[in-house]
Amino acid sequence: MQKENLVSGMRSTGKLHLGHYMGVITNWVKLQEDYNCFYFVADWHALTTKFDKTETLKQDKLDVVLDWLACGINPEKSTIYFQSKVLQIAELHILLSMITPNNWAERDPTLKDMVKILKNKDGDNSENLPQMSYGLLGYPILMSADIMAMNGAIVPVGTDQLAHLEITRDIARRFNNIYNVELFNEPKPKLTEIPLLCGVDGQKMGKSFHNDIKISDTEEETSKKLMQCITDRSRARKDDLGHPEQCEVAFKYYEVFADKETVTQVDCECRQGKRGCADCKRQLGRIINEKFAPIRTKRMELAKDIDKVFDIINEGNKKAASEAEKIMKKVRDAVNI
Ligand code: TRP
Ligand code: SF4
Repeated sequence: MQKENLVSGMRSTGKLHLGHYMGVITNWVKLQEDYNCFYFVADWHALTTKFDKTETLKQDKLDVVLDWLACGINPEKSTIYFQSKVLQIAELHILLSMITPNNWAERDPTLKDMVKILKNKDGDNSENLPQMSYGLLGYPILMSADIMAMNGAIVPVGTDQLAHLEITRDIARRFNNIYNVELFNEPKPKLTEIPLLCGVDGQKMGKSFHNDIKISDTEEETSKKLMQCITDRSRARKDDLGHPEQCEVAFKYYEVFADKETVTQVDCECRQGKRGCADCKRQLGRIINEKFAPIRTKRMELAKDIDKVFDIINEGNKKAASEAEKIMKKVRDAVNI
């Protein structure tokens, strides 16, 4: 049986963190076995909010791909590409924008949240939402073009992206209705079950919050960041009885990264006051560093041979463009353009 096309992208935010790894990348790696996967860096989407901060864009895009490759996204199995190198996506975006009512995008709750974040960054705490650019309003339509240009059937995303994907399904249906064709399928979301990994301060892990541990951090950086983790606040001394369930970050990380026996041992020793938090976090550092050692080594090797990485991306760009061209021929036909 022909494998279905699966499409997913990440904005070009630069070096990825352990939250990306646990929440997204491990999942992408597994999906490579069952689907024809198209993984891309959404550099146009990055411009919807960061159009005036493009100095690091080229390096950021490359860093994302380096992390993917190091973590096991395999160019033999998956197509890896930059969104902006597949011009068919831009063409489809224009055509889809013609048939999409403004208010479909305007009521997208995820988009509203993005605007709020932008506003707060500007220090504006008023009730009024700021002006949204035409490009940002088009975010879900561009995302629809990403998926539909690759004839995507499955889209692995987090819950925050579901609203966008609902619009994609509406647009696909509307296109078929208006032009009386059965060209596009309605792509289905595939939710990741892994809970979000919090940052070292217990808030959502994110680059802009300065609470993240990067996949590409050194062992020293990793250990140092882990020492800042919040633990059970009611514990002042090593022999105070601890409560792992109140250890907001360190114990949670153990549950994610350590094996079952270790988690049980940490749990018991903590409760009995036989384990100091500093030692506990040092051990956590060793566990995480050991897990990421092969990935970090591979990443360094790839970074040394950057021409090879560009070859992989160029190859992926071409493959993605030829996949998109297949459906775009039919789209142009349907629209009579
Ligand atoms: N909006 C997604 C995010 O911020 C990234 C993205 C862009 C995407 N285009 C996509 C994800 C198409 C899946 C499919 O995470
Ligand atoms: Fe958390 Fe470990 Fe300290 Fe217990 S001993 S509170 S699990 S850091």
